[in-house]
Amino acid sequence: AASIDAAKPAKNVEETVRPGQARASSYKVAVLGAAGGIGQPLSLLIKMSPLVSTLNLYDIANVKGVMADLSHCNTPAQVAGFTGPTELAACLKDVDLVIIPAGVPRKPGMTRDDLFNINANIVKTLIEAVADNAPNAIINIISNPVNSTVPIAAEVLKAKGVYDPKKLFGVTTLDVVRANTFVAQKKNLRLIDVDVPVIGGHAGITILPLLSKTRPSAEFTPEEIEELTVRIQNAGTEVVEAKAGAGSATLSMAYAAARFAESCMRALDGDPDVFECTFVQSELTDLPFFASRVKLGKKGVEAFITDDLEGLTEYEQKGVDALMAELKGSIEKGVNFANKQV
Ligand code: NAD
Ligand code: LMR
Repeated sequence: AASIDAAKPAKNVEETVRPGQARASSYKVAVLGAAGGIGQPLSLLIKMSPLVSTLNLYDIANVKGVMADLSHCNTPAQVAGFTGPTELAACLKDVDLVIIPAGVPRKPGMTRDDLFNINANIVKTLIEAVADNAPNAIINIISNPVNSTVPIAAEVLKAKGVYDPKKLFGVTTLDVVRANTFVAQKKNLRLIDVDVPVIGGHAGITILPLLSKTRPSAEFTPEEIEELTVRIQNAGTEVVEAKAGAGSATLSMAYAAARFAESCMRALDGDPDVFECTFVQSELTDLPFFASRVKLGKKGVEAFITDDLEGLTEYEQKGVDALMAELKGSIEKGVNFANKQV
């Protein structure tokens, strides 16, 4: 395990994504669900990355317009569009990184698990194609419920004989982005400096910010801890309610997914200093998947930052104990779905 001292705060998109930077643009990226609410701004941010040589956009509709639009940006990535299942294989050929925001979003009153019936099938079908056409790619799954879609993806990849647990990631970066923002506001800290690890999963109480591990270190009253924790856990619902039926977080999610994708590519590129919280296969707890801070390297997950889970406060330990049953159920639901189908 890497030591906490080595776990530097992750870089924000604005620190890493700059058009025209002198870094080699050499990675091929595919976005599946590229015409959606997340897919469009995410594809724009990926198009801005100096590390990207090719950006393949896939959706079941409306890709041509997004491709034409993005292709006019004078950044190095070459944009190509692929529409519908017959073009999916070509979209995925030889890509290094596949990002999946395909699927339906929540409406007010729904849980992320209410999306399972539709999104489980979408993720399963897309991952089958990834297994067949880009078996060595790093995979970033955004589609909800992440606590189940990542286990589904793992089972599909296993059935295809190409599962590499170090390369399959559930994107939980938005929870960290939110935690950093809310903590900086509450404690009047410089936003860019704040880094709060968020562990567990990506739904309700399974989202557990470790405020005691905030860097730079900050003091919180018990009331502040309760208020911040609940706000971070319900931040997705805050956006769903504000959008009042028009979907869930898209812009902040695109920002968060672009940061995570950039981190994956920087790690592939040999940057020795890349750390992110993410939902991955894990041995940190009794559960087969768990979100925690990991060190990213050329082959995906390089090390788990075990220190984050040591010396938890009583409040945080109670949070871990409380989330285990729900997270276990969501993981098993995904595994059972995949095994019934494959
Ligand atoms: P959206 O409806 O705006 O876009 C979804 C896109 O997926 C659409 O363009 C649609 O055509 C496409 N799509 C549907 N079926 C497809 C298929 N089989 N293949 C390829 N594309 C397909 O939704 P959105 O707001 O972009 O959200 C997408 C997903 O991301 C939702 O499941 C949402 O819950 C999830 N989400 C996750 C996080 C997170 O933190 N991980 C944050 C926000 C949203
Ligand atoms: C989020 O956290 O914003 C996403 O998971 C979308 C949602 O349904 O809340």
